[in-house]
Amino acid sequence: MTRQISAKTVVAGVAGQPVAHSLSPLLHNAWLEAAGIDGVYVAFAPPADNFREFAQGLRGGAIRGINVTLPFKEAALSISRRATPRAEAAEAANLLLFEPDGTITADNTDGLGLLAAFALQAPGFDPKAGPVVILGAGGAARGAAAAFKLAGAPEVRIVNRTQAKAEFVAGALGEVGRAFPLDQAVAALQGAQAVVNATSAGLTNGGRLEIPLSATPEAAVIMDMVYTPLVTPFLAEAQALGRKTVDGLGMLVGQARPSFEAFFGRAPPDGVDVRALALKALGAAG
Ligand code: ATR
Repeated sequence: MTRQISAKTVVAGVAGQPVAHSLSPLLHNAWLEAAGIDGVYVAFAPPADNFREFAQGLRGGAIRGINVTLPFKEAALSISRRATPRAEAAEAANLLLFEPDGTITADNTDGLGLLAAFALQAPGFDPKAGPVVILGAGGAARGAAAAFKLAGAPEVRIVNRTQAKAEFVAGALGEVGRAFPLDQAVAALQGAQAVVNATSAGLTNGGRLEIPLSATPEAAVIMDMVYTPLVTPFLAEAQALGRKTVDGLGMLVGQARPSFEAFFGRAPPDGVDVRALALKALGAAG
């Protein structure tokens, strides 16, 4: 069935640079169609150094809101007049809402997505039950660390190649933060109940992440934020060790759900297998 664009169509979208690979239009439009909502979700690729001008143009009711992906997550927060505590804690926004009075509100649903992926793929996992390890100290790592802290993790260990960055991110977490250089990863993994790869290693030609996952407890849950491929070499190694794993596609769908609700005023409909749709699209792309 082809959807009609009417005089009341609500417009939302995603902004990134590049954005052509984004699966968000696929997920949101599938939900819109299934729910019979008069809305549309499109992709924007503003120039990398022009996010402020781009976002100003969307204000005042032109469109309802946008998701924001790389490299605009920090800029999105900085141009907003209001921000939710979770966006402040992550120091980044993945969701902007444009109010009719011109106000831009920043939110961050990445942390909710991360925890939703754990809840779905590792149902026994309780963030409050023990230390978690984040690999990396960039924006993705900061967001994951903030999400675990807000969910009550007693200790968040930041492991990073550049130690000064690990210390900076751990310092921002206050009492629960601890920093480790990469060569002390074994110590960081001791007693960890979850390990999240938030580095960009493997995404580029930067090489593979060498992490001694065998040092984790047998019950530890291992997650990779990257979902291309769905089972990354990091997750494959975890599975070979018999560890439970959580994939980045779970997080992508998990952050999209609350975003959809913010744009269109209701939760995504049940009965749409958006994960299967995404996997099909990834298969076609790969
Ligand atoms: P993002 O905002 O997506 O998190 P980023 O800010 O560029 O991206 O951060 C990338 C992270 O991956 C950093 O923590 C980086 O480590 P450094 O701080 O030492 O640069 C980490 N990273 C990238 N390639 C890596 C590699 N080959 N081995 C280990 N860590 C790597």
